[in-house]
Amino acid sequence: MTVTIARQGEIAIVTVDNPPVNALSTALRQGLWDAVGALDADASVAAVVLVCAGRTFIAGADVTEFGKPPQPPHLPDLVDRIEGATKPWVAAIHGSALGGGFEVAMGCRFRVAAPDASVGLPEVGLGIVPGASGTVRTPRLAGAALAAELVTSGRPMPAPKAFAAGLVDAVIQGDLRDGAAAFARQALTRPLPAPVSARPVAAPAAGFWAEQEKAVAKTAKGAAAPLRALDCLRKAVEAPFAEAMAFERQTFLELRGSDQAAALRHVFFAERAAPRPAALRGVEPLPLRRAAVIGGGTMGAGIIAALCEAGLPVTLIERDDAAVARGLANLRGIFAGGVKRGKLTEAQAEALTAGVTGTTDYASIADADLVIEAVFEEIGVKRAVFEQLARVCRPDAVLATNTSYLDPRVIAEGLPNPGRFIGLHFFSPANVMKLLEIVPAPDTSDRTLATGFALARMLKKIPVRAGICEGFIGNRILKRYRAAAEALVRQGVPIAEIDAAMRGYGFAMGPFEAQDLGGLDIAFLQREGARAAGQDVPETLGDILVRAGRKGQKTGGGWYDYAPGERRPQPSAVAAELLADQIRPGPAMSREEIAQALVSEMAAEGRAILNEGIAQTPADIDLVEIHGYGFPRWRGGPMFATGRKG
Ligand code: 3HC
Repeated sequence: MTVTIARQGEIAIVTVDNPPVNALSTALRQGLWDAVGALDADASVAAVVLVCAGRTFIAGADVTEFGKPPQPPHLPDLVDRIEGATKPWVAAIHGSALGGGFEVAMGCRFRVAAPDASVGLPEVGLGIVPGASGTVRTPRLAGAALAAELVTSGRPMPAPKAFAAGLVDAVIQGDLRDGAAAFARQALTRPLPAPVSARPVAAPAAGFWAEQEKAVAKTAKGAAAPLRALDCLRKAVEAPFAEAMAFERQTFLELRGSDQAAALRHVFFAERAAPRPAALRGVEPLPLRRAAVIGGGTMGAGIIAALCEAGLPVTLIERDDAAVARGLANLRGIFAGGVKRGKLTEAQAEALTAGVTGTTDYASIADADLVIEAVFEEIGVKRAVFEQLARVCRPDAVLATNTSYLDPRVIAEGLPNPGRFIGLHFFSPANVMKLLEIVPAPDTSDRTLATGFALARMLKKIPVRAGICEGFIGNRILKRYRAAAEALVRQGVPIAEIDAAMRGYGFAMGPFEAQDLGGLDIAFLQREGARAAGQDVPETLGDILVRAGRKGQKTGGGWYDYAPGERRPQPSAVAAELLADQIRPGPAMSREEIAQALVSEMAAEGRAILNEGIAQTPADIDLVEIHGYGFPRWRGGPMFATGRKG
């Protein structure tokens, strides 16, 4: 039974129990529909409390039903039915009331919430708009400005803020069900407020909609839903309730069937599947209580920041006192950035820094459960670190290397107990970027692998298992992408056109401006290293630029020129001159064709990676591209985007 009814005197308690998140499946909608009828007919009931079992209040419509035709009872009708019930309903919210869950709550005459609960309308994250009055009832409770924030960002709002905004009527300390029942009894002693649909909605200040549109278009970067949600909100403010409801429903149904919504659903489920791979079901990870990081450079400090933000005490090991001091300064710089952006308070930053010990003494990490090596990307340096670790660490401690390009098998050669060794490839800045490539070596034990995934969950990262090859999944695709972009330049496609095409596709930056920002010399040095080792690495256009001293923004120019102190790329006559004799003009290409060509190349590399067993699923490749390389989420990743178009 998904819906049960109990009694506390004249108060009926309707309990929803539809694990895992009480999503509004057809059966649940029907259960609630029937409950309204039964309770309306029961003269001994004066008011109704709606609570949920399990970890959360209703977390929304059932996303698994979105691919199928909508079944009655439809959610907007259910919300209307609850609102029109002859007894007042009180939604008692714990966990999150999201999407359809919050819409059901807004159909209730009152909303009360536990102090740590939140409410929100995350639909835009799924490529849709709220479809059961979210855009129409929210401004009637909290005004257009707050509704716009909720609906276009999709971010949940904590209960105390929702209370201050008028979205919930009370924050209940202690037992929520009893508190909600007491609230209902109190409410019955006073005249009832109007149902939300009957409340007036104030017109926002002049210029509000134009400002919102500008701001939302900027952050949406090609995603359609946030702007469409704003259209619905405007309708809700300017038109009568029923007309706004019809407009919202029509927009919802249209977007539900769109490519963007399908892509975002794909990402939604991929992200939830990634942290718990089926192959590791039942494997217990090593409990992580203390961590150590070797190397306090940009990457090491970022990893330390991520670990301490997750609550782990961390020891930083560096080779001398000056390097320890530099590492700790890097860490303080990261936290200071967090304070500047309003993500941390000064006190929090200080407490986090206090959780880190810097030392040169390897013996001090003898009790660490996890050690992550993040030293210079040079095989000899890394191997020397693991020799030290083998001497001092517990034999069961997990020993990880954070390498982007080196072969983990060579790094760990000769390590006693090799089952404890693993590659963990973080992306910079490591405390911000969501992706974590988890790279088991041939001897890595299941327990160590499971610990890598448990660590990702702890750090709130998206883990993707990768096999061993140059560049693992992400950097290997990046290499192919860059090579394909260079091939277009050789065919005479202007550099700025290629970058504009990829921005138009939804990337924040095109491949050439991104290289100028990061520096062309890193990849150049790798190629030079491979050439020195006897590999046949053809000369790239990037090599020509670097040899001419053009390493990107830091040298005032790379693919583009940059005015001193400026970051705006300007087409470069010097670069054009340097590359001129490499270009054999081919047919002109539209921006759309350019983007399709480059995304197809990414997907082709993805297919090769899958065939070689380097990635486990196409969805994993999509997650790597979205969370590590800025692929537009609403396109679903290169495998999804090209798969759908055949
Ligand atoms: N429909 C179907 N399944 C859902 C779901 C939903 N809305 N939300 C979560 N699930 C599933 C997940 O796929 C996962 O399944 P699995 O265990 O088989 O992998 C399981 O529930 C648990 O999810 P999480 O791992 O995300 O659990 P957390 O405890 O970390 O988070 C949560 C809970 C905050 C509720 C989070 O699941 C969440 O944000 N869910 C999505 C909420 C959402 O987007 N709601 C809007 C839906 S659209 C809508 O309501 C339209 C309406 O306006 C008409």
